[in-house]
Amino acid sequence: MNSQPKLRILFSRQEIEAAVSRLAAEIRQDYHDKCPLLIGILKGSFMFLADLIRHLDFPLEVDFIGLSSYGKGEQTSGKIKLVKPLGSSVKGREVLVIEDIVDTGLTTAFCLDYLQQRKPASLKLCVLTDKPSRRRVPVTIDYLGFTAPNKFLVGYGLDMNQKFRNLPDICFIEEEEQC
Ligand code: PRP
Repeated sequence: MNSQPKLRILFSRQEIEAAVSRLAAEIRQDYHDKCPLLIGILKGSFMFLADLIRHLDFPLEVDFIGLSSYGKGEQTSGKIKLVKPLGSSVKGREVLVIEDIVDTGLTTAFCLDYLQQRKPASLKLCVLTDKPSRRRVPVTIDYLGFTAPNKFLVGYGLDMNQKFRNLPDICFIEEEEQC
């Protein structure tokens, strides 16, 4: 069967815009004179990063790293695959990682460890949505947009089997009622 799942808005585009604006103000305060390197974790972070940097009116650089663990389905495989290496050197840089969501924490922990080994001057993490109830490894989030309940989320970069990334709101998939 190929039925469309029912989607409900969890964080609306207006709430996202307010959160992005607030995070940008916090980041501006800490990084306006540091020319930071912002590293987005692909694919999920592309929309958040694009919106965030439009609020940052000071010199900065952008790069991406591609990491994946979910493949098809809703459960992490637990194995993080590097699907796109970084283009820049992080050595001696003020690095700020931009992530769409922290769930088990495995992807972010892998990324922070990978970058820390490359000796940045500083390394911090900005996350739009945190799902702390799902955590399997500890992750310290320096800038956080939302805390979400334990629901499968799609939209604003987040996918289910690569679909729904284009939705402007963050939505959850409503469970089918059992009869
Ligand atoms: C998603 C999301 C995060 C990660 C969070 O990426 O974009 O990077 O999962 O989950 P975790 O905390 O349990 O590791 P995914 O592996 O689905 O790849 P994608 O970004 O290409 O969708």
